[in-house]
Amino acid sequence: MDFPAEPFRIKVIEPIKKTTREQRIQQLEKAGLNVFNIPAEMVFIDLLTDSGTSAMSDNQWAGLMMGDESYAGSKNYYHFEESIRDIFGFSCIIPTHQGRSAENLLFSVVLKKGDFVPNNIHFDTTRANVLHNGAVPVDLVIDEGLDPHCEHPFKGNMDIAKLERLIEEKGAGQIPIILLTVTNNSGGGQPVSIENIRQVHRVARKFKIPFFLDACRFAENCFFIKEREPEFAKTSIVEIAREMFSYADGCTMSAKKDGLVNIGGFLAMYDTALYEKAANLLILVEGFPTYGGLAGRDLEAIARGLQEVLDEDYLAFRIGQVRHLGKMLSESGVPILKPVGGHAVYLNAREFLPHLPQSQFPAQALTVALYREAGIRAVEIGGLMFGMTDSETGQERYPELELVRLAIPRRVYTSMHMQYVAHAIAQIHKQRDSIKGLRLLYQAPLLRHFTARLAEVS
Ligand code: F0G
Repeated sequence: MDFPAEPFRIKVIEPIKKTTREQRIQQLEKAGLNVFNIPAEMVFIDLLTDSGTSAMSDNQWAGLMMGDESYAGSKNYYHFEESIRDIFGFSCIIPTHQGRSAENLLFSVVLKKGDFVPNNIHFDTTRANVLHNGAVPVDLVIDEGLDPHCEHPFKGNMDIAKLERLIEEKGAGQIPIILLTVTNNSGGGQPVSIENIRQVHRVARKFKIPFFLDACRFAENCFFIKEREPEFAKTSIVEIAREMFSYADGCTMSAKKDGLVNIGGFLAMYDTALYEKAANLLILVEGFPTYGGLAGRDLEAIARGLQEVLDEDYLAFRIGQVRHLGKMLSESGVPILKPVGGHAVYLNAREFLPHLPQSQFPAQALTVALYREAGIRAVEIGGLMFGMTDSETGQERYPELELVRLAIPRRVYTSMHMQYVAHAIAQIHKQRDSIKGLRLLYQAPLLRHFTARLAEVS
């Protein structure tokens, strides 16, 4: 039955506010047309990110009360470790306060200046941490993964020929680690197949290079494998996850996604020498190895969340809800990235607003319109985030894609909220010709989208 209703009922509610269009216009003015500057209380449906925005279950909240806040050897750490070993297998586990901290620890101990790090597509913080350690991030996703119209089932796959070419060109000594992001967030939340993971594993073994997964959305990836890779049609999600991680030497994880918690992450591996180095650095920057950057109660919530996220009814609902939003939008003629990925629907702003040149930030203009007309907060992934002003020529350089990401928090919004979003965006699409382009008033030299201020082009 293709009817993935919410497999939970609601016990606690958090009111959200419907604002007037006038109030939202005022907020946008104050915010310099940048939705990062708008107080969350003034947002009706917040689709800025799926990270740290999940609703926890009664079981997780009960776990918080079982927090053992001992400095060393908290009982929650042992439960956390047991839960991770059960699914991921890795023997050495380092808790961190979130994903980027795990990335930083790992790269600090494995990378040296001039190294190269292949990945399907690096997420921003992964890319920044690779660069910060003097190495060069290289994105090797299959070509289909970059085409917004291509309906390939595993658009997150790594291009194996490109990977082998890179290793042969640079030499294995220059490539201390191979990464693979499941699902591939920067490519639209697209999954990676087990077949592809096996191939990457073989290449990694052949050249004796450690292979790590960026596992933030591992359970969503496993659900796609079950759905789309015939060999796994009858395999349980936990068994698919165990198979997936059996090919890796370790992983980084932001538990703020598929850990179903509001804060937390970890770094895991088998290599004890590597573990020792990372754990020593952990003590310096995060905390003692049995709590990392977290409270005992946070570790407990993660231990429980990682088990809950494997529930197939939950995943069918989760993937189904995101897909349903994509379907409603598509049926109204709204241009979206296809196929719909695991955690978000991406609007194709160049096709949505064909009258706006890229120099007028169409994806940001659409993001502003979503808030102004409907109180929906999304995130721009286009010229504002990735464009750059060339310091020598003063010319702007723009990315290929102009997208608006509608990231769906886990277990937070109902299907009626999704209908509201689809309906509002369809209305905005009908009046798209009235949406004006934007120009920059202020930009920071780095990661400018967070703090930029803009105005409408008159
Ligand atoms: N890797 C991936 C694939 C991510 O999507 C994120 C975060 C991180 C690493 C870093 O984890 O935030 O816990 O430090 N993605 C969020 C997003 C921020 O909105 O997509 P973190």
